[in-house]
Amino acid sequence: MTTPLRYGLIGTGMMGLEHQRNLNALDEVLVVAAADPHPASLDAARFTAEGRELDCFENYRDLLAADMCDVYVISSPNMTHRAVLDDVMATGRHIVIEKPLCTTVEDAAHIRDLAADYPALFWVGLEYRYMPAITRAIDIAHSGELGEVHMIAIREHRHPFLVKVDNWNRFSANTGGTLVEKCCHFFDLMRLIARANPMRVMASGGQDVNHLDEFYAGQRSDILDNALVIVEFENGVRSSLDLSMFAEGSQHHEELSVVGSRGKVEAFLPSGELRVGLRSGGTRGVSTSVVHNDAVRVEGFHHGASYLEHLDILAAIRADSSALVTAEDGWWSVVMGAAAHRSIDERRSVEISEFL
Ligand SMILES: NC(=O)c1ccc[n+]([C@@H]2O[C@H](COP(=O)([O-])OP(=O)(O)OC[C@H]3O[C@@H](n4cnc5c(N)ncnc54)[C@H](O)[C@@H]3O)[C@@H](O)[C@H]2O)c1
Repeated sequence: MTTPLRYGLIGTGMMGLEHQRNLNALDEVLVVAAADPHPASLDAARFTAEGRELDCFENYRDLLAADMCDVYVISSPNMTHRAVLDDVMATGRHIVIEKPLCTTVEDAAHIRDLAADYPALFWVGLEYRYMPAITRAIDIAHSGELGEVHMIAIREHRHPFLVKVDNWNRFSANTGGTLVEKCCHFFDLMRLIARANPMRVMASGGQDVNHLDEFYAGQRSDILDNALVIVEFENGVRSSLDLSMFAEGSQHHEELSVVGSRGKVEAFLPSGELRVGLRSGGTRGVSTSVVHNDAVRVEGFHHGASYLEHLDILAAIRADSSALVTAEDGWWSVVMGAAAHRSIDERRSVEISEFL
């Protein structure tokens, strides 16, 4: 019998509770503590503990001082990540930090540099990699079956941003901007699939429909709700992102396609549908299936991705091996989002070298 790993949650809003439910379902894991300044969020964590013992703290620094955890899972709002990480990294314990790593490239670079010598696991929660249909599409793209990969297209057409505690996500200064906050997932996927770093970003976008009449402390919400982004990679791969956050009337919320010199793979969410076709087979040769991963015990809000990610995190801690999603990955995804925002703001193509 292995000694259970003791987890502490920092931030127990929507995503913190998703982590808690996933961790509850894992063997040899105990969620022993939670910290959140918002009483209702802490109450929700107590409820989600389902009778398990849970020490609760209003201030995460008191949780750190209690020194009762092996792993900290940070799901506080984006604008708190830098300060919280500075404190949590001083403990030398294992860390899982929600995306985006930080809201600015500078803060993300600071954390990336600290993480390079970190004595324990440092894992960034870019969990779209773990959605079963997406994972399968990536495996196919990397298998060579499609020939050399040249084009990657991602479309997210979905509902507007949800309401968050204290409405922190209504302002770009808090989130890093939509293309950092939300689309860091997609930029991470592009870079992972392309197996290269980005070179140049061109984007157009704006806030045209959502939250236009929302004011908080006299300030109008300023978050972008649609964008088209093109990314060119160092190895010649081209990629595009088509984002609309006023597209509830879509059958698929996310669509990924990867086209190589021999064929194409497509993945669709939430259905989990996968389509694979070779040029030689034409339209009739396209095979369609629905991808499931039987290991998933909790579907959650992310099609089982959080659960599968936690399995890999746990395995990495037990094996004393490196993170599969690193601070460097987190930093790159922030850089790409920031470059897209700069491209929109300055109406020009942006070289990634401007951020290096
Ligand atoms: N991986 C994903 O797909 C995904 C999905 C949703 C959210 N997220 C990320 O998770 C994080 C939390 O988002 P959410 O949707 O749960 O927001 P939320 O508003 O529902 O919850 C955030 C919680 O953090 C608490 N908090 C604020 N300051 C804190 C601090 N200093 N210390 C501890 N807790 C603090 C708030 O009181 C709140 O309870 C964000 O970084 C967000 O980008 C990731």
